[in-house]
Amino acid sequence: MGQSDLLGKIEGKQALVGIIGLGYVGLPLMRTFCKAGFRVLGFDVDASKIERLNAGKSYIQHIPGKLIADLVKQKRFSATADPQRLSEPDCLIICVPTPLTRMREPDLTYIHATARTIAAALRKGQLVVLESTTYPGTTREEVLPILEAGGLKVEQDFYLAFSPEREDPGRTDHTTETIPKVVGSIGPASGKLAVALYGQAIARIVPVSSCEVAEACKILENVYRCVNIALVNELKLLFDRMGIDVWEVISAAATKPFGFQAFYPGPGLGGHCIPIDPFYLSWKAKQYESSTRFIELAGEINTAMPEYVVHRVADALNERSKPLKGSKILVLGLAYKKDVDDMRESPSVHLIEMLRARGAEVEYNDPHILRTPRQREHDLKMKSVTLSPESLAGYDCVLIATDHSAYDYEMVVKHARLIVDTRNATAGVKASKRNVVKA
Ligand SMILES: NC(=O)c1ccc[n+]([C@@H]2O[C@H](COP(=O)([O-])OP(=O)(O)OC[C@H]3O[C@@H](n4cnc5c(N)ncnc54)[C@H](O)[C@@H]3O)[C@@H](O)[C@H]2O)c1
Repeated sequence: MGQSDLLGKIEGKQALVGIIGLGYVGLPLMRTFCKAGFRVLGFDVDASKIERLNAGKSYIQHIPGKLIADLVKQKRFSATADPQRLSEPDCLIICVPTPLTRMREPDLTYIHATARTIAAALRKGQLVVLESTTYPGTTREEVLPILEAGGLKVEQDFYLAFSPEREDPGRTDHTTETIPKVVGSIGPASGKLAVALYGQAIARIVPVSSCEVAEACKILENVYRCVNIALVNELKLLFDRMGIDVWEVISAAATKPFGFQAFYPGPGLGGHCIPIDPFYLSWKAKQYESSTRFIELAGEINTAMPEYVVHRVADALNERSKPLKGSKILVLGLAYKKDVDDMRESPSVHLIEMLRARGAEVEYNDPHILRTPRQREHDLKMKSVTLSPESLAGYDCVLIATDHSAYDYEMVVKHARLIVDTRNATAGVKASKRNVVKA
């Protein structure tokens, strides 16, 4: 099958779309392509996910099980762990993880493994697109040689592009369909096909001149957030000493109709992207004998935030003649951000570990995470406790780490003895806030 055949199949929505990695990015993307009228074959190495999907169940809170069940029933979506089936789809989209190693260097093992399994099944006329966030150069330097090792040539026999995922889980005002899609490719034939594919399912496509530009674009977006969050985190510490409320300052500054975008401080960075992706670029910069000082400084400030919060908790308890050691502390919110069920890199995990290390008895509540899953580097083995006026009154301190909308902050303020609020979540509470300390 040649370029024009594939283009025809894409434009007629007859192309079978393969999505590799059915996680927080892959599943919403599957929904988007199915909604646009394509059939999707999903791939994952996690057999339990495959089993659940084919049984019409979801494991991601904002993707309803009913939607999966309907798509499976209508034979528009199925999932498999069989890598030999990678030759079936016309288009393959890679959405596998890109974490950091223990030494905080890019861990491309998932991308390499995926590229190798695709290479083993690659046939003429397939389009491969990498969506995983990574440093500029990955698609050309890492993925392309693996795919070409079997003898097929890019731009002639198969096509290769990079299009960054810009998913923001938990958001309702923008969806995968409405977020403009940046597409960069190895060459013009690949670009034309990738633009055509996404153009069938997503409202606006932004073609750029190369994979490297598309890769760099995603990293720029995340560096921008990381640096600006570090800025307000640093200012929070200063303003706190000066007796100024940083949240009030930000909301006043945000009234400027141009030239200012509000970022908010917090207990530290979390999630799969902002704490990790900038370091992909820092690592790559070394190859060019360049440094990325903004990224390093932002990382330093943001990773120190949990320590600051723990100090604030200790100080607030001290004011009440209580040592941290032996105090009962309830952490509200385990997810890394509001209204999601994802606790990857969550600062709450660090807070719990640091408070425990100082002798506190820590429990948590999170309506979205009823028990803690085992993570790559942490295994808290905890269960969410129930929240009631009586239970709140039983803690020496309630630490608000994530500002989930489900919480009744009036009740928390009314019944907790002491609250340390890292998110300004109690701002709208009408009751007396004498027991609230902002951190
Ligand atoms: N989660 C987000 O909000 C978000 C937003 C933008 C970009 N990203 C980027 O998207 C990529 C995926 O992130 P995610 O949050 O969806 O991760 P995830 O962990 O939720 O999902 C990844 C999936 O890939 C599977 N997988 C791993 N190796 C595989 C292999 N060799 N073959 C097939 N499947 C494999 C895993 O089992 C998992 O189900 C990352 O690069 C991330 O940085 C994530």
